Amino acid sequence: MTQQTYTVSIHYDRRLYRQDIAGSVAHARMLAKQGIVPDKDATKIIGGLMSIQTEIAEDRFPWKPELEDIHMNIEARLHELVGPVAGKLHTARSRNDQVSTDLRLYAKEAIENIIAGLRGLQQAVVGVAEANSEAFLPGYTHLQRAQPVLLAHHFMAYFEMLQRDIGRFQDCHGRTDVLPLGSGALAGVPYPIDREFVARELGFGGITANSMDAVSDRDFVVEFLSASALCMAHLSRLAEELVLWSSQEFGYVTMDDAYTTGSSIMPQKRNPDLAELARGKTGRVYGNLVAMLTILKGLPLTYNRDMQEDKEPLFDTVDTLHATLEAFQGMVSTMKVNTDRMGATVDEESLLLATDLADYLVAKGLPFREAHGVVAKLSRHVTDNGTSLDSLSLDEYKTFSEVFDQGVYEITPQSSMKARDVPGGTAPQQVAAALAEAKRLLGEKP
Ligand code: ARG
Repeated sequence: MTQQTYTVSIHYDRRLYRQDIAGSVAHARMLAKQGIVPDKDATKIIGGLMSIQTEIAEDRFPWKPELEDIHMNIEARLHELVGPVAGKLHTARSRNDQVSTDLRLYAKEAIENIIAGLRGLQQAVVGVAEANSEAFLPGYTHLQRAQPVLLAHHFMAYFEMLQRDIGRFQDCHGRTDVLPLGSGALAGVPYPIDREFVARELGFGGITANSMDAVSDRDFVVEFLSASALCMAHLSRLAEELVLWSSQEFGYVTMDDAYTTGSSIMPQKRNPDLAELARGKTGRVYGNLVAMLTILKGLPLTYNRDMQEDKEPLFDTVDTLHATLEAFQGMVSTMKVNTDRMGATVDEESLLLATDLADYLVAKGLPFREAHGVVAKLSRHVTDNGTSLDSLSLDEYKTFSEVFDQGVYEITPQSSMKARDVPGGTAPQQVAAALAEAKRLLGEKP
């Protein structure tokens, strides 16, 4: 391996060509406006940059690995196209503030696309909740059946996670949205530049405050990778749940064929590969975050070439998260929800209503701890005798506590859910309110 093969980055940083050209065009305009280069030179430079943009978009740009990166490739090609005047473009600029500008532009766009993907998945989640508004299933703790909950309530939990993810990406966007250009190599530049003008041209909300920080800061990459890692954790939990739910043991959902694959040897299998892969890819997204944090940890100010290693983890995470969100939107909106099976699981497990039985006793005046003790004994009785709560006679109930009356037979999954009528609870009217709020949020501009 030669030194050049080791240092070259063009095979991945060519992805930044649009940002690099946009940054150069804005810079050239500013140089002309400030009288740093003559107007006619800037016009020539901008014309050349536009041709380069077309060449790259049409896949006929002569990439040269010996020129190492996207910046040098474009600058060298500009020389070929417009002659020595191309050399004026790099006035009052360094690759250090240039690359950071490119990467911030790229990250801002990526964040916007990812927020759109998150909204799309939220829409799919709301769709499942709305289409099955009366369905219920056992809610689980420790993966043990615990209490009946509305399916809509279960899915809206993911809506909340995704909503917080959006918030984290929005925060990250705000801190990414500052222009580093004008910081030069590290100390600023000795020309009368107009940084605010360049920021406006490029759509940045502001400019960086310290040139040394600006060329060496990759916090925005770390923040993006961190928000992405947590988002993938959420998607991976959903994936795991759908893997479980699509098993024969649960049978709660049937994935559309587009999101499963058959086995090469067992013809009956419909493996939830997409969900499993998402769970697996979460590992590489975590890895990218750790890679970036580690790249930065020992770097003295300001720019160090180590920082070139920021791009592959960033690009890989953008691609992975984007693809995962898109696939999940399809997977969730096409899966068949077997609400009968969910309801039957609740019915076959009468002990799901044990908490409600205790609450019923509390309503009759028993202290909660005492009521809990009575129901614990009842539950053991039911389990030991292989029976169910609803098949016990009132006399049998009364052997556990005198206060039992006919009202005990009015405890049903529906009454259990309806009773949890607190903000954030599973009562149908609370869930309906959550859905209404979700739809209001989705109607908002992202
Ligand atoms: N390819 C480089 C990177 O991504 C561009 C900046 C190079 N700057 C320098 N002083 N060598 O970091």
